[in-house]
Parts: sequence; structure tokens; C-alpha cells
Amino acid sequence: MPKKIRLGILGGGGDSLIGILHRAASQINDNYEVVGAVFNPDHQESLEFARKIDIPTDRVYRDYEVLIEEELKLPEDKRIQVCSILTPNFLHFPMAKKLLDNGFHVICEKPMTTTYEEAVILNEAVEASGKVFALTHTYTGYPMVRQMREMIKAGAIGKVHKVDAQYYQGWMNPIIHDKEKRSTVWRLDPKKAGISSCMGDIGVHAFNMVEYTTGLKVRSLLSDFNYMYDDNQMDMDGTVLIRMDTNVKGVIRASQVATEEENNFSMAIYGQKGGLKWEQENPNYLYRLNDPEPLQVYKPGHAYNSRLSLDGTKLPPGHPEGIFDSMANIYLGVARAIRGEAHDPGEFPTVLDGLRGMNFIENTVSSHKQGNIWVDMED
Ligand SMILES: NC(=O)c1ccc[n+]([C@@H]2O[C@H](COP(=O)([O-])OP(=O)(O)OC[C@H]3O[C@@H](n4cnc5c(N)ncnc54)[C@H](O)[C@@H]3O)[C@@H](O)[C@H]2O)c1
Repeated sequence: MPKKIRLGILGGGGDSLIGILHRAASQINDNYEVVGAVFNPDHQESLEFARKIDIPTDRVYRDYEVLIEEELKLPEDKRIQVCSILTPNFLHFPMAKKLLDNGFHVICEKPMTTTYEEAVILNEAVEASGKVFALTHTYTGYPMVRQMREMIKAGAIGKVHKVDAQYYQGWMNPIIHDKEKRSTVWRLDPKKAGISSCMGDIGVHAFNMVEYTTGLKVRSLLSDFNYMYDDNQMDMDGTVLIRMDTNVKGVIRASQVATEEENNFSMAIYGQKGGLKWEQENPNYLYRLNDPEPLQVYKPGHAYNSRLSLDGTKLPPGHPEGIFDSMANIYLGVARAIRGEAHDPGEFPTVLDGLRGMNFIENTVSSHKQGNIWVDMED
């Protein structure tokens, strides 16, 4: 039996949104053990949280540099093997780069970095290190998203000609209209978040999902942003027209001020023979529009699904799985990669997805700022 993979966690403390998702996901398939961490920039808070969730405090460090230094002193069979980076965006690059340069595998939250330039350097660092680098575009782990990818690949909807991805949230609405509140949120501070709020935080998920499911690349785009207030430097809402390979056209719509929307991510891909539609808030249903047949509904766990989709289901059909399972599927793929086992490229996004994502974010900002013009993506 393989031993559990020793996992370190950076960020994701008790005060965070995403920490619980990663901790739970890492446990779901019994592959990881959390052995070290820097949960919080305040060491006392980090220690308190470690005690609360029962993680030995002797490997809860002051900062990521101390973590790397101290872990390297431990024998290899005790040392952290992979670190999950769950901090605000501006820390992803320095943390990931230093971890890779010192021989650790990395699981990193999106957006991968704050600039495309950093993403290029990180890509080189991944190549030079030979280590596993996974980017947690969480939604790629859903069985029905994987099924969508495999069906499109197998030609179920024929040649793709139209894509429509929408990611609407409303949580920023009460914040953006209050001048004091909007100075307290790191996602609205370009030094911490990067050059974009809405596209950088959620539009990039939609972009990744469009490329993940269709297997096609966005070649050029035109964006129109709303910053809402003159003193706000970060986009709150954006519409992006996209052109993909071979005359595929589409739209990515993202908003953080779609009042009272929760996590309303949905996508539809249309082709010559039919279409496929999926919604994050209702993730166990994949709708197949099949000209001229009646609508079909695919569900997880049934033998008619692809191997990649079935690999992401743990219980028989009818036992709903959700966001924790979706992230767990990414951790499962990473565990296989770390152990040198065979795995499907669809099991987790990599540094190349991060590179594409950062190029997308920068191009959407650039298109808007140049007066909503078409700009080309890097190849
Ligand atoms: N994959 C997804 O669907 C998804 C969803 C939400 C957030 N995210 C990403 O996850 C990251 C974190 O987002 P969040 O919403 O959890 O943020 P958050 O503000 O809720 O939590 C950030 C955590 O990082 C810790 N932190 C800050 N500086 C640190 C440092 N120097 N060292 C160690 N820890 C530090 C904070 O104490 C906190 O625990 C962001 O990059 C965000 O884009 C991804």
C-alpha cells in the first residue's frame, strides 16, 4: 500500500473561504496527511488554528520561507512532499517558485500569479524542477464536466460552433457601493489581487472551463468592463467576446455585482449535431440537446459515462456529490502524478492552464482599456 502523501498548507486558515475545501478534499480519497502549515501571517493565529483542527504545532511555521528551510532539514521520508497555496493572489508566485526551486510539488489556487510575466517564469520553474504543479480550477473535477469534455472529444455534438459561459456572483454588490467597505477587501486591491477583480477571480474559471471542455483554444477576444466608480481600479463586471479555433465564436460573461446571485456558473456548448449544458449550482445533471431528438439528461455514476467521469464518482448513482468531491478529484489526480502513476490529462489543470489564464486576464484588461478592441491571445 502506498504511504499517505505529506501535505503542507500555506494560507487557508480558519478565517478563509477556501481552506476547508482543500483540507476536506485532500482527505476524501485517503491519499494525504496534513503535516505542516502556515495558515495565517500571524503566527499565533496559525498555531491556534492548528490546535483547533488537531495538527501538530511543531511544524506550523512563521512564514513559507521558514517552512521550506526547516522542512529541508528533515529526512526525505518525513519532509512535506507537496504544498497547497491558498493565500491571496500576490503570494502565489513567490511561494510556488520557491517551493519548486527547492524540490516540492505544488498545488496552487487560481489565478496562478498576478501577471503573465510571472506565469512565464513559473512555467519555466515547473519545467526545470520536474515537479508536479496543479492549478485548482475546481469545476474541472465535477464528473459531469468531465463527461462534457469526453463527449465533445468523441464528437457527440459534432463540430463546435458556439460557446456561452456565464459566471455571475452578487457578493460584491453591498461592498462596492460603500466607499469604506471597498477599501477593506483584498480582491479590490491591485497589489494583492493583480490587475483584475471580476475576470481574475471568476472570469478566469469560465475561460478555463471553455478550453477544458471543448479542447479548443481562445485565439482572440474583445472585452467590455464595468468598474462602477471612478476611484475603483478593479473590474466588477465584464463581457468578453471570444473567437476560438475554426470559426467558433462565443461569449464569457462574468459579474460580481449580479445582485443576489450566489455562485451561478453555467455553460453551454453548441455544435452541428447538438448541444451540452451544465450548471455549477446543479452539478449532477448534464443536459444534451440532440437535434431533433428530445432532451437527454446525463447523471454521474452510470455506466454510460466515460472512464474519466466515472473515475470522479465514488458512490452509486443517486448519491449527490458536490464541490468537495470535485476538488477531491483534482487531489486524486495530483496524488497519482506525485506517485508516478498513469493519469489522464483531464484529471487536473496544470501550469499551462495557469499560463493561458493569466494571458486571458491581461488581454481582457488590455482590450477594455484600449477602447474595447480585439486582441490576440499568445499561442
Ligand atoms: N478554486 C476556487 O474555486 C476558489 C474559490 C475561492 C477562492 N479561491 C482562491 O483561493 C485563494 C484564497 O482565497 P480565499 O477566498 O480563501 O481568501 P481569504 O481571504 O478568505 O483567505 C486567505 C487566507 O490566507 C491567509 N494568508 C494571508 N497572507 C498569508 C501569508 N503571508 N502566509 C500564510 N497565510 C496567509 C489568511 O490568513 C487567510 O487564512 C485566492 O487566490 C482565491 O482566488 C479559489
